[in-house]
Amino acid sequence: MSALLVDPFQRNINYLRVSVTDRCDFRCVYCMSENMNFLPKKELLTLEELDRMCSTFVKLGIEKLRITGGEPLVRRNIMTFFHSMGRHLETGALKELTVTTNGSQLERFATDLYASGVRRINISLDTLDEKKFADITRWGRLTQVLRGIDAALAAGLHVKINAVALKGFNETELPLITQWCSDLGMDLTWIEVMPMGDLGTEDRLGQYWSLKEVQRKYSEQFTVTELAERTGGPARYVRLEETGQKIGFITPLTHNFCESCNRVRVTCTGEIYMCLGQEDMADLRAPLRSTEDNKPLEDAIRIAISKKPKGHDFDYSRQRLDGQMPRHMSHTGG
Ligand code: 5AD
Ligand code: SF4
Repeated sequence: MSALLVDPFQRNINYLRVSVTDRCDFRCVYCMSENMNFLPKKELLTLEELDRMCSTFVKLGIEKLRITGGEPLVRRNIMTFFHSMGRHLETGALKELTVTTNGSQLERFATDLYASGVRRINISLDTLDEKKFADITRWGRLTQVLRGIDAALAAGLHVKINAVALKGFNETELPLITQWCSDLGMDLTWIEVMPMGDLGTEDRLGQYWSLKEVQRKYSEQFTVTELAERTGGPARYVRLEETGQKIGFITPLTHNFCESCNRVRVTCTGEIYMCLGQEDMADLRAPLRSTEDNKPLEDAIRIAISKKPKGHDFDYSRQRLDGQMPRHMSHTGG
């Protein structure tokens, strides 16, 4: 039997995103509410369980592994896990190990991440204004993140900045953020805000800003060429001819990218979600905890993949209550 994970729509699933914690040291308004209830520790997969689970996925054909949260780098002893995953890079079974982070812990961990085999990281950052940064993240401090970014670049990591596009918030900073990324040799992707967190009640901190409008804003300043390349994910890319920069756009609400979806997600409690925009999930923690043998886990993974839905329902027309997902981003992982 083939080791590869192929879903019912002949999509080869080779990309796994794993959330290692639901906790975060920030409270971004579009992601969390101010008083979050986090899961008790016993609910979380232990680092050993995470290792067994990810290693099993690698055995079944996962080639790219992205570690997310919450904020993954606030999980205690998480570097042990990164170093352990590095062994799959050494055998060649895993092609890429990456992390999505808010940058707050990078000053401590950047060198260690590189040593574990991580070469590229995504850093979430929406504004270069200290006051606005404190407003949008509630608990974050810009200077700490900027020091983290310096540390990442100095360690040799390739950095991509993910900025959530918020009308009336970072709209005016588009040229500045773009130039800053260009100067530091970082990629930039804009993410359309999704209806989660406390956004609805705090629209003073910005609101839905369509990436069509973001792209239009670029067109006022640059010659924008749309690129055909896709990475199996939701991002589309354009090139700014004047600077040569490639800018990504992630439009989860308005853009249909499901046909080429190559990924699944696992939450910090071991639930596998076959699609970010759907409720379908399966529990991998029970098979993990039931026995030391990985066979039941392998079976559970295969069954889950065989149920991967064709696409998401994540648009404003076919909605539950105003398209709101009942899960928080920090639960499923960004
Ligand atoms: N809409 C869009 N992106 C979000 N993220 C978190 N919540 C939302 C949301 N409601 C993104 C963060 C970061 C990643 C962890 O998920 O900006 O890039
Ligand atoms: Fe934390 Fe990222 Fe959510 Fe902000 S968006 S609260 S940094 S997990």
